[in-house]
Amino acid sequence: MTNIIEPLSVDVNNHNPSLLVATNSVRLTSCIRLLLITLAIIVGLCVIASIISIVVVFTGLSTDDVYTTAATRAISSSASYTTQIVTTEQLSTSVQTTNNNSKCQLLTFAPYTSILAGYFPQSITVNDFNGDNHSDIAIANRFGNNVAIFLGNGNGTFRKSTSIPTSSEPIFVTNADFNNDKKLDIAVVHHGSASIGISLGFGNGTFAMPMNFSVGNSPYYAAVGNFNNDNYLDIVITNYDDNSTTVLINSQNNSFISSMNISTGSAPFGVIAADFNNDNFTDTVVSNSNNDTVSMFLGYGNGTFHLPINSNTMTSPLGTAAGDFNGDYKLDLVVANVDDNSISILLGNNDGTFQTQIVYSTGIWPWSVATGDVDEDTYVDIVVANSNSKFINVFLGYGNGTFRKAMNITTEAGPWDVAISDFNNDGRLDIVALSSNYFTLNILLNTC
Ligand SMILES: *[C@@H]1O[C@H](CO)[C@@H](O)[C@H](O)[C@H]1NC(C)=O
Ligand SMILES: *[C@@H]1O[C@H](CO)[C@@H](O)[C@H](O)[C@H]1NC(C)=O
Ligand SMILES: *[C@@H]1O[C@H](CO)[C@@H](O)[C@H](O)[C@H]1NC(C)=O
Ligand SMILES: *[C@@H]1O[C@H](CO)[C@@H](O)[C@H](O)[C@H]1NC(C)=O
Ligand SMILES: *[C@@H]1O[C@H](CO)[C@@H](O)[C@H](O)[C@H]1NC(C)=O
Ligand SMILES: *[C@@H]1O[C@H](CO)[C@@H](O)[C@H](O)[C@H]1NC(C)=O
Ligand SMILES: *[C@@H]1O[C@H](CO)[C@@H](O)[C@H](O)[C@H]1NC(C)=O
Ligand SMILES: *[C@@H]1O[C@H](CO)[C@@H](O)[C@H](O)[C@H]1NC(C)=O
Ligand SMILES: *[C@@H]1O[C@H](CO)[C@@H](O)[C@H](O)[C@H]1NC(C)=O
Ligand SMILES: *[C@@H]1O[C@H](CO)[C@@H](O)[C@H](O)[C@H]1NC(C)=O
Ligand SMILES: *[C@@H]1O[C@H](CO)[C@@H](O)[C@H](O)[C@H]1NC(C)=O
Ligand SMILES: *[C@@H]1O[C@H](CO)[C@@H](O)[C@H](O)[C@H]1NC(C)=O
Repeated sequence: MTNIIEPLSVDVNNHNPSLLVATNSVRLTSCIRLLLITLAIIVGLCVIASIISIVVVFTGLSTDDVYTTAATRAISSSASYTTQIVTTEQLSTSVQTTNNNSKCQLLTFAPYTSILAGYFPQSITVNDFNGDNHSDIAIANRFGNNVAIFLGNGNGTFRKSTSIPTSSEPIFVTNADFNNDKKLDIAVVHHGSASIGISLGFGNGTFAMPMNFSVGNSPYYAAVGNFNNDNYLDIVITNYDDNSTTVLINSQNNSFISSMNISTGSAPFGVIAADFNNDNFTDTVVSNSNNDTVSMFLGYGNGTFHLPINSNTMTSPLGTAAGDFNGDYKLDLVVANVDDNSISILLGNNDGTFQTQIVYSTGIWPWSVATGDVDEDTYVDIVVANSNSKFINVFLGYGNGTFRKAMNITTEAGPWDVAISDFNNDGRLDIVALSSNYFTLNILLNTC
């Protein structure tokens, strides 16, 4: 059985999850029946729209039902699951950059290269895990219950290293040196088991078995920062179902001590740890996906935080990233508004508040964002993963808090998460994106 079910569209937004499944295959009956048996009971509504291409629309699903169905596709294709590199044929994308001081006057990306990532890859983190000066990638495979490590060859290709086993539903992955041994470690949020895993790195691209620490219910994102000024990195995690964050303070001996949960708005999702008021204490800012706000928690530098300051976003803010978008040495924020098909730019006032949001249109269901200077003009740019489009957006910064109209860069369907790094050592920042529909990693090399 391969690729029997093709999710055309998987809506995992928070208000009205739905799922559109289509297939042109004659081998559809048993699989559709299986879907109906397992899902129709929960679902209530099923519309069969065409004979040749049967389209089934389920509504009234919970988010987890949608994920579970998407995972069915991953499992149905498991028989032929291999890691392979496929270069696709497509037009490359280019845009004239307008900034006179850019080294890159015509920004172009080569057609993407695609590698199978794992079962329902959800989150990417990038760094040099084995000390060879090439950028490597770790991917959290939500229904594979593992983190796959891809070591960079320094020329835009990757080789797979050993995977790290995780608890249920690894949904977010990041990296940092938690034990100050100068080797990068991996932190993974386990959505299904209300915990995070820390795998200490050996510095050679392999990692120890994870240590697991409890957090709140249905955790989503995490951010790493030094919240108590002790030179050991701590972690903050959003607990989606609890309207809270958990702060795990590093106890300096390969262990973490959990703070009391800190109340947020409704359905906290993204989280960033950075110093937004230049007092040298790390703050955290959380996107409240059901409140259309971000909450800023200014840090006291002792592991505790001020009461939150809320700022408005558009509908359903999810992924967030920080950067100085207007060159005033005050950190700004970008937030992906999944139900509004937009990003909000929030320019920081250096005191935890932001100026009124500036909104830019994106593709469909922007899920996550990343920042970096992809056109080498010294101004921060923004990359957006549109989880129900077949492209990512690149917003080139003017350095004054505004951005050019978005570039659309073709990827496989459903780019879910993005990361920026130089993967072929040519001094230019490249982009990687995860396709939620094809379970692949797309590599987009900057050919400016
Ligand atoms: C960019 O260069 C053009 C041509 O040299 C010049 O007219 C324009 O003022 C420059 N723009 C900026 C923002 O420096
Ligand atoms: C990586 O780069 C650093 C700094 O340039 C250099 O000292 C080191 O030898 C390099 N390591 C390898 C494995 O190339
Ligand atoms: C990339 O580097 C790897 C390892 O050195 C090598 O096997 C591969 O052929 C290279 N690929 C390209 C496209 O240069
Ligand atoms: C953490 O959880 C993983 C996955 O369930 C398990 O393999 C690992 O042994 C656990 N770590 C410890 C220290 O129990
Ligand atoms: C990585 O380092 C660890 C610890 O030193 C060692 O056990 C392991 O064999 C190494 N793996 C590779 C692939 O070098
Ligand atoms: C989270 O906030 C929403 C909206 O205020 C509320 O309906 C829900 O009960 C809260 N959940 C918890 C666990 O407090
Ligand atoms: C680690 O540090 C914490 C806090 O100082 C302490 O409670 C715990 O016993 C220590 N654990 C070990 C194994 O040293
Ligand atoms: C923060 O640290 C920098 C660098 O050490 C220092 O110059 C600055 O005065 C500090 N700011 C505050 C508010 O302490
Ligand atoms: C968040 O949204 C919920 C539901 O709309 C509302 O009841 C609650 O008051 C809001 N909370 C905040 C802090 O805005
Ligand atoms: C953290 O610092 C704040 C402000 O100085 C203080 O009010 C609070 O008691 C401190 N908390 C802890 C746990 O030290
Ligand atoms: C930002 O810079 C761009 C390009 O130079 C210019 O067109 C725009 O008016 C500027 N916007 C603001 C708010 O300064
Ligand atoms: C990007 O895609 C959107 C949606 O398909 C379209 O409206 C927009 O014109 C495209 N932008 C460019 C620069 O092609």
